[in-house]
Amino acid sequence: MTLLAAFADERATAERLASELGAPLHLVALHRFPDGESLPIVPATSGHVVVYRSLNRPDRKLTSLLLAADAWRRAGASRLTLVAPYLCYMRQDAVFRPGEPLSRDVVSGWLRAAFDRVITVDPHLHRTPDLAVLLGPETLTLSAGSLLADAIGPGADDWVIVGPDAESAQWASRVAAALGAPSVMLSKTRLGDRSVRLSSTGLELVRGRATVLVDDVSSSGGTLRQAVQRLLAAGAGSVDVAVTHSLLRPADERRLHGAGARRILCTDSCRPDGAVRLAALLASTLKDDFK
Ligand code: R5P
Repeated sequence: MTLLAAFADERATAERLASELGAPLHLVALHRFPDGESLPIVPATSGHVVVYRSLNRPDRKLTSLLLAADAWRRAGASRLTLVAPYLCYMRQDAVFRPGEPLSRDVVSGWLRAAFDRVITVDPHLHRTPDLAVLLGPETLTLSAGSLLADAIGPGADDWVIVGPDAESAQWASRVAAALGAPSVMLSKTRLGDRSVRLSSTGLELVRGRATVLVDDVSSSGGTLRQAVQRLLAAGAGSVDVAVTHSLLRPADERRLHGAGARRILCTDSCRPDGAVRLAALLASTLKDDFK
């Protein structure tokens, strides 16, 4: 028997997954002590638990998730699967300056110790060729590329797909292939948390064309904002934005529109109102567990 669980703050998104699977959703009760510590109380089972927990805002979510995994083990759960559409801390995939941690490996180690299987979507695999090395052999990496392409919509003859930096090539080329559109990559130098410098060679292609900037994640929106400006300066007819994971705050989105972005498309991995729904994609990998 497999039990689908989630935390109340992601109920809406997890319910879409439950509905695709035709399975009831069980909520973890989360008690907060006055000092800020958390105490999750899980629906107990001796079977397989699939827990939906997207790991945006990770410092708030990780402790209670890892405690919940311990509670399930103690209650006798035979197997634990984590469905984390957004996988946190993957961008700190190197010690960039002396004194920094290798956060990717630390957080992966915690998840690997707690879960038998992790399912995620478009993780930031820049210096990480194989996520299974970090998270275990059963790790499953899905892509939202074709869902984003569907959301971008018809008009393939016209689109030019643009990746804002070298790392984005893996996601941008998938979307470009799904749309049968040409693609071009910019290159990026990061100057600070919210500040980047983009170089733009080869942008003749975008003149007068409908362009779509594609990336795995938008965090402060700084990268995409500058990319939008570059494309418009190069004569693009329009600039849409399509990211798998949007961590943008409303003010960041406003700034992005202010810079000239027409549409901002994203999945519901980090925000329940994301127009591109991941439930069917996730359910397709889980349906055998719920037969
Ligand atoms: C990093 O390479 C990622 O793919 C994104 O480009 C980056 O995280 C975006 O960050 P921000 O929105 O803060 O510029």
